[in-house]
Amino acid sequence: MVELDPTGRNVHGEVARLRENGPAALVLLPGEVRAWSVTRPELIKRLAGDPRVSRDPRRHWSAMATVPPDWPLNAFVQLKSLITAYGEDHRRLRKPLSGTFGRRRLELLRPRIEEIVDRLIDDMDADAGTPICLRERFAAQVPAEVMWDLFGVPDSLRARFSSGLPRFTNTAATPDEAGAAFNEMVSCATELLAVKRVFPGQDLATDLVEGQASDQSMTDEVLIHTLITMLGAGIDTTSNHIANAARALAVDPVQRRLAVSGEVGWDDVVEESLRRDGPVMHLPLRFAVEDFDLEGVTIKQGDAILLAFGAPGRDPSWHVDAHEFDLTRSEKDHLAFGYGVHYCVGAPLARLEGAIALERLFTCFPDLELAVPPDELIPHTSFIGCGFQSLPVNLRPRVPAER
Ligand code: HEM
Repeated sequence: MVELDPTGRNVHGEVARLRENGPAALVLLPGEVRAWSVTRPELIKRLAGDPRVSRDPRRHWSAMATVPPDWPLNAFVQLKSLITAYGEDHRRLRKPLSGTFGRRRLELLRPRIEEIVDRLIDDMDADAGTPICLRERFAAQVPAEVMWDLFGVPDSLRARFSSGLPRFTNTAATPDEAGAAFNEMVSCATELLAVKRVFPGQDLATDLVEGQASDQSMTDEVLIHTLITMLGAGIDTTSNHIANAARALAVDPVQRRLAVSGEVGWDDVVEESLRRDGPVMHLPLRFAVEDFDLEGVTIKQGDAILLAFGAPGRDPSWHVDAHEFDLTRSEKDHLAFGYGVHYCVGAPLARLEGAIALERLFTCFPDLELAVPPDELIPHTSFIGCGFQSLPVNLRPRVPAER
């Protein structure tokens, strides 16, 4: 059995080894919890689309009762929201969110995203000449500010959410740290709910509060957990995506020129980055609703299953030279946003944020380069979130905007 490295030092190398171990490989998660790791693209699709596989630990995980309350990954099974719901419960909880990022809504959001990106670029430009951390100053800020706006998060709660949410994916956290992070996020979301009840606004948190009137299953607890799910899923993932794509362009002048010159579109940059550097690798957890066979491996009812959504993009059976970042490749298929009924609600928004942020950043700073050798970048301590803790860059002179 492979013990997944909680420090996430070499997530892609680890997945390459798991891929060799057959259709499903038994892995040990922090806290000695066992799960079947599935890395191959067609099997991930099969399981993510199979009603015999559930995301609800309360109904379908045989070990749920024995997992201690301080299990480091508890946040992923304790949350009661669409992400841990099954069947009809999932359909009901997803319904109020599923239309959230339709084309019309996104076009209304575009100018606001552009404004946020331009302001952050101006702020960074004021410090050009010295290395800056692009993750902290830009990649983490863009999605955070978009989500604060969308959910009407007051200034007083933003710093607390920003420091607590990324801790959910720290797979090397001690049980105390993980428990404290979860409690802090519940406390923040509870405050957000209280604010919206007294001061409703034109935002998604208010929409969810108002939706309670017509849906009795949306208890306060589920609403609070839904807010945490949305903010957690929407910020760190997209930060990793923007930073990973910026890093790929920063270290490769040929690819950078293809993008900056317009020979390939910014949507291609987004897709190639999602393929090669998916922001989410393993996403805990799923559970077998009944016994079934997976290409010769028997998965027993109640077993835990861990799908590696970040693995297929680099699967050599799917892509030639899968480890190469190549904007000109014609097939950029990936499962970075998942598959099936739990497919990412925010995928259109994440793609839009990525395209706007990267285009404006590299149009202003076409010679942007890393300020440290690439192998000195330190990955997140996580086998869930894929990215780097910081991204020091030299912006180089800014290109004046065309008038
Ligand atoms: C590049 C950025 C993003 C990546 C890589 C990503 C990845 C994923 C993945 C892999 C899943 C599937 C979970 C599963 O099947 O188990 C998912 C679900 C989800 N994502 Fe995203 N996500 C991103 C951005 C966002 C954004 C911006 C939002 C919100 C605005 C969001 C909200 C959600 C929600 C609510 C779910 C749960 C859907 C369900 O269970 O039905 N995500 N995401």
